[in-house]
Amino acid sequence: MLRVGMLTSGGDCQALNAALRGVAKTLYNERDDVEIYGFLNGYQGMIYGKYKKLRPKDFSGILTRGGTMLGTSRTPFKLLDEPTPEGLNKVDSMKATYKELQLDALVMGGGNGSTKTANRLYEEGLNVIALPKTIDNDTWGTDYTFGFDSAIEIATKCIDDIHTTASSHGRVFVIEIMGHKVGWIPLYAGIAGGADVILLPEIPYDLNKVVKTIERRDQEDHRFTIIVAAEGAISKEDAALPKKKYKKKIAGRTMSVAYEIADDIFQATGREIRVAVPGHTQRGGQPCARDRVFATQVGVEAARGVLAGEYGFMVADKGREIVRVPMSEVAGRLKYIDPNCQLVNQAKTLGIVFGD
Ligand code: F6P
Repeated sequence: MLRVGMLTSGGDCQALNAALRGVAKTLYNERDDVEIYGFLNGYQGMIYGKYKKLRPKDFSGILTRGGTMLGTSRTPFKLLDEPTPEGLNKVDSMKATYKELQLDALVMGGGNGSTKTANRLYEEGLNVIALPKTIDNDTWGTDYTFGFDSAIEIATKCIDDIHTTASSHGRVFVIEIMGHKVGWIPLYAGIAGGADVILLPEIPYDLNKVVKTIERRDQEDHRFTIIVAAEGAISKEDAALPKKKYKKKIAGRTMSVAYEIADDIFQATGREIRVAVPGHTQRGGQPCARDRVFATQVGVEAARGVLAGEYGFMVADKGREIVRVPMSEVAGRLKYIDPNCQLVNQAKTLGIVFGD
């Protein structure tokens, strides 16, 4: 008997179900003696022993379904060694659940923080494999994560829709796109949607440069300006603050960053300005075709690891090839945008302003 546990952890994204299906279908196809257990709501399911035994039928009809069939939650790594409100030791409880179910392996779909926990469990002796999930595409060790392509489609559609109304009314728009620490979605969607300005967490902006862009466009008779701001867009002044002070400042924000930027622009120009925040729509709905294919490939490779008794890796994409990366290399590292990378340079050559 081959007994495999699966869970999804952290923020959900499109194609999580496609990845779980890829794992399950491969296992059922290759072996007749497979039992799969799905832990409910992320690591919480392992901690509290909440799971369900899944059957082949449970994996039918889910390729195109967004969200996660298992539910998810955030279990911050930095609190892993603190007991639950009931006094349970989280790591010990997860190990006990794994043992009780006599699992041979655990497959975990998660981003950077969740993979850190997966790596800890691997170091504690569990057979763990990670799947690279997140709309943010900020997981170290892989060129792409599933969810990213779907998210940029949605964000781009939002920018496209705003474009028509912005140009009709001659307005300045600030569109806030997901990405707190890392700006892959705003970078890609901003370029795909023809943004005039893209503000990223990795490239602190000078408001004067943004204002000058609006004024230049007005002089050129464009009438409207599209500014794409990452959730974590940061001004040069804020970037110069000590980290603690900056954290305190954003903790006190009553509105998200786009409103703050819009207000600053209004104060500087008096221009009519609007804000659009697509928010969690970027994580919702059906996965795009590319994400379905990639998540399926990831699932097959994870299952191959289980079948071969090989663990401790995250499935990754390197130059559009499916590869394995040691989880220890990935754990807790973010894949930031290099401000001097080719894509940013090309966007600048095209005339997109990053405010630096
Ligand atoms: O899962 C990634 C992400 O969507 C980020 O892009 C975003 O900053 C964050 O999660 C939002 O988190 P929450 O769902 O907890 O509001």
